[in-house]
Amino acid sequence: MFEEAQYFAPVATRDDGSVVVELAANHPGVADPVYRERRNAIAALALNHTPGEPIPEAAYTEREHEVWALVSRELAIKHRKYAAGEYLRGYERLGLPQDRIPQLQEVGDLLEPLTGFRYLPAAGLVPLRDFYGVLADGLFHSTQYIRHHSVPFYTPEPDVIHEVIGHANALASDRFARLYRLAGAAARRVETDAALEFISKVFWFTMEFGVLAENGEDRAYGAGILSSYGEIEEFRGMDILPLDLAVMGTTSYDITKYQDVLFRAESMSHLEDVVGTFWATCDDETISRIVTDKAAAKSVV
Ligand code: TRP
Ligand code: FE
Repeated sequence: MFEEAQYFAPVATRDDGSVVVELAANHPGVADPVYRERRNAIAALALNHTPGEPIPEAAYTEREHEVWALVSRELAIKHRKYAAGEYLRGYERLGLPQDRIPQLQEVGDLLEPLTGFRYLPAAGLVPLRDFYGVLADGLFHSTQYIRHHSVPFYTPEPDVIHEVIGHANALASDRFARLYRLAGAAARRVETDAALEFISKVFWFTMEFGVLAENGEDRAYGAGILSSYGEIEEFRGMDILPLDLAVMGTTSYDITKYQDVLFRAESMSHLEDVVGTFWATCDDETISRIVTDKAAAKSVV
């Protein structure tokens, strides 16, 4: 299965209808009964949501709002130094609250007039075809829970801070929103799991962990870097490779630690030319050709 599947805690429904989220033994909240109860309650909200209905409100606790406020404050400082200009413009346009967790309904209400995107609640892992496919319709599946207060600077599980501070600020930019929609259209167009996996890896190394050059400096636009005030301090020291579809689409990654291999676009237009054009035009055949050409080139060297 794809690497993404590993980081979502499994959600189970008991015979009595109650919902239980199974946190891994090394999860920072595993021994905190209050946190576990919150995770169960929030997963139940998403499971009970009917598409098309308003998104159920999560009644966040004071402690949860405080985690958001702390991380927002830390990230705002880091973003000025490390975030790409196009992301910062999205951030200015969107105007997220800094002192409390916004409801997903509210995030959609802010985004829709800008780029047409709305949020959908997800209890856990959404099958990749659906997750990517609905991006073409301007829909973004999002977790609703927040990371445990003991480790605010990084979480190996995507949480509402990642989904909203990382992704919604990007989705507030017309140029990034168009790229997300193209990724969705590409995921719908291909039939094989191999092609879908290739597209999802290109998405990983761009929309999740992408870096671009601005005035001779590396700036992050990937949501996974931009939502972690631990990882954002490290990315410039990683192995940053040139933007290359064949390499991105076939490179494996470990979701549980800081990414040590990243890919740099030379500009926003370069990203659009290479990755936007790929998503706009790829199909099963072009993707398998990219993979075989790369293997052939390697055997010659
Ligand atoms: N590490 C990110 C953060 O701390 C969140 C995250 C977890 C994530 N898993 C991810 C981001 C997978 C991108 C892809 O905010
Ligand atoms: Fe993400």
